[in-house]
Amino acid sequence: MNAPESFEDKVRQAIANPSNLGAMDDADAVGTVGGAGCGDMLRMWLKFREENGRKVIDKASFQSFGCETAIAAASLATELIKGKSTQEALTMSGAEMAADLGPLPPTKIHCTTMVEDALRSAIESHEKALENGPTECGPTAQSEPPKSQASPAGSLLDQMHASSGDQSGLKVVFLPPEED
Ligand code: FES
Repeated sequence: MNAPESFEDKVRQAIANPSNLGAMDDADAVGTVGGAGCGDMLRMWLKFREENGRKVIDKASFQSFGCETAIAAASLATELIKGKSTQEALTMSGAEMAADLGPLPPTKIHCTTMVEDALRSAIESHEKALENGPTECGPTAQSEPPKSQASPAGSLLDQMHASSGDQSGLKVVFLPPEED
């Protein structure tokens, strides 16, 4: 009988061929979060569609400058939330979305929370934009990623390097490496 797969094995499998990795050019919403403790970052893009009179997540993608667990969790989450309404997606915790990884080591819980927070940020910014009504650029202008962010070339990494003093609301603080 094979030994049960360890958490590390499951993470390794999930990141070997991650799903939905990369910017989404036609996204309706984008959310970016940073882990205060570790300095890692995650951005999630969402595209919605109408289904039986309700708005559901058609597709989701992500970019991450984070640890392997965050990438694995985001890969699983972006698959799991497809077809869910925004309300359904908002009820899910990061750990639930990454349940296929098995029980999370305590030091890795925040990695899945970052995925949850990126999803929440994208949905909330989209809903806020809709509440604020149409603007010159259209009803969802505030939640749409600027093209410079949405293209793979002008992506999270570019924005990290260009973030000081820009208008994106993204503030990146590079931390010194931890000493052993
Ligand atoms: Fe920061 Fe995993 S250690 S996201």
